Amino acid sequence: MGLLSGLLDQASVYLEGQNLWVVGPAAFGAFVVLSVVINVLNQLLFKDPNQPPVVFHWFPFLGSTVVYGMEPYKFFNKCQEQYGDVFTFILLGRKMTVTLGPKGNEFVFNGKHADLCAEEAYTHLTTPVFGSGVVYDCPNHMLMEQKKFMKFGLTTETFKAYVPLIKDEVVNYFQTSPFFSGQSGKVPLSTAIPQLTLFTASRSLQGREVREALTTTHAALFHDLDMGFTPVNFMFPWLPLPHNAKRDKAQKAMAKLYLDIISRRKSGEDSKKEIDMIWNLMNRSYKSGETLSDLHIAHCMIALLMAGQHTSMATTTWTLLHLAAKPEIQKALYDEQVKVFGKDLAPLTYEKLSELQMVNNVVKEILRVHPPLHSIMRKVKSPLHVPDTNFVIPSSHFVMAAPGVSAMDEKYFKNAKEFDPFRWVGHEADEDNAEKFDFGFGLVSKGTASPYLPFGAGRHRCIGEQFANVQLGTIISTLVREFEFSLPPGQKDVPLVDYNSMVALAMAPAMVHWKRRPGSNH
Ligand code: HEM
Repeated sequence: MGLLSGLLDQASVYLEGQNLWVVGPAAFGAFVVLSVVINVLNQLLFKDPNQPPVVFHWFPFLGSTVVYGMEPYKFFNKCQEQYGDVFTFILLGRKMTVTLGPKGNEFVFNGKHADLCAEEAYTHLTTPVFGSGVVYDCPNHMLMEQKKFMKFGLTTETFKAYVPLIKDEVVNYFQTSPFFSGQSGKVPLSTAIPQLTLFTASRSLQGREVREALTTTHAALFHDLDMGFTPVNFMFPWLPLPHNAKRDKAQKAMAKLYLDIISRRKSGEDSKKEIDMIWNLMNRSYKSGETLSDLHIAHCMIALLMAGQHTSMATTTWTLLHLAAKPEIQKALYDEQVKVFGKDLAPLTYEKLSELQMVNNVVKEILRVHPPLHSIMRKVKSPLHVPDTNFVIPSSHFVMAAPGVSAMDEKYFKNAKEFDPFRWVGHEADEDNAEKFDFGFGLVSKGTASPYLPFGAGRHRCIGEQFANVQLGTIISTLVREFEFSLPPGQKDVPLVDYNSMVALAMAPAMVHWKRRPGSNH
């Protein structure tokens, strides 16, 4: 192996010495052929039985980037068939060791921080968007404390206040959006839902001032910042591309929006005492006694906005698409509204949301079939043995979990490909029984060897699960009370998945047809 890499190095030095630009395409062609030959021989002749098998690829550096990027699940399933649950593939020069199945999920999510590091896997993408000093741009113990601070703003009390705010945003949206005028029509979900989830999340989680800014002065800035979250930025976040320049400008302007609010509140200029996430972060301090700086509060707020936006937007879109494809599920949801809220459909409340078992099962099932995050990554910090195998993963590798693979495996879910919310009946409390641990931000399920982990597990587990459930539950309930949805005539199934974004989105325009329910009151 070393010999061949040495040869490759010598060949490239030689070709560089010959000045590729002068010798031209012939030399470049020879270089490519030579590197392909060396790369293939390397894979065929030098297999290390103590390392996970390497997915066969023709081109060094490029490796399996294209097949993985186009359809990650198809790629994972094919590799699982050929190589088993543990294998390594090349992603733009990085060696990614994938560990599939419940044990593979456990291995990544429950890895010790000294062995597996999320910061080094994600910081290139996230820090230019969130800003410095928070999340993956600070030591892990600070992230754990930041998550604890954010959780103080995600309590039963705040959720009670959020439900009517979210409901009002949804009603306001379909009363004012041109997509919902009249008694029936069609709506491109890939345009409408990102707006709806941004308005609902910002009004509730971020507070009134941020919500107002996001429809007016800051709408374009949010879009520019959002464009920083593209897969290409995983590898090349600092490229001087126009979208990166816009991202950096937008990051500063968004941070200023929060900094101005903080400064108005500190100076007493803001007479209304808003009890929201900004207020919460202004009143927290690290264990060391240090408080969060204004800039770090601003950056935490951006992180919260972005973390929830993509995941909730993808989940809401898929939910409406599957409901449109299955009118019987819409009927079950509507009947449940009548059962819980009475014939006149009393206003939604947080307390009643938890009684909506069917809504909860729909959300659970959507997250099984379409978990927004298909690849969870960590950088390996010291050679790591994979339990029950001979493999040791070297510290030059990254590891990757894909819980979406086990969530769609027949071994764990009968008729796994079928969207069937009824499969969860009787399993509602499964996670409550899992082993719990406090990583510094409250009790969460430890890296359970579970086939279903849409919110992750362990120290990096999502803190937004309950908020996401409140947001989605309120949006679905409000829409189901008002509309009946169907797929466009002639379309038999939901659209294909578009993997060109950070989350598994439905292919645009994701059109559904809608009809107002007879007697709906808006
Ligand atoms: C972490 C999924 C909504 C904030 C995570 C992780 C997953 C996830 C899988 C673990 C990532 C990893 O281990 O590398 C989801 C899904 C959501 C959702 C499926 C909605 C359907 C939200 C919302 C918020 C949020 C609404 C904010 C209120 C976070 C934060 C982390 C996280 C702060 C911690 C990151 C870390 O510790 O490294 N989420 N999320 N998420 N999520 Fe969510």
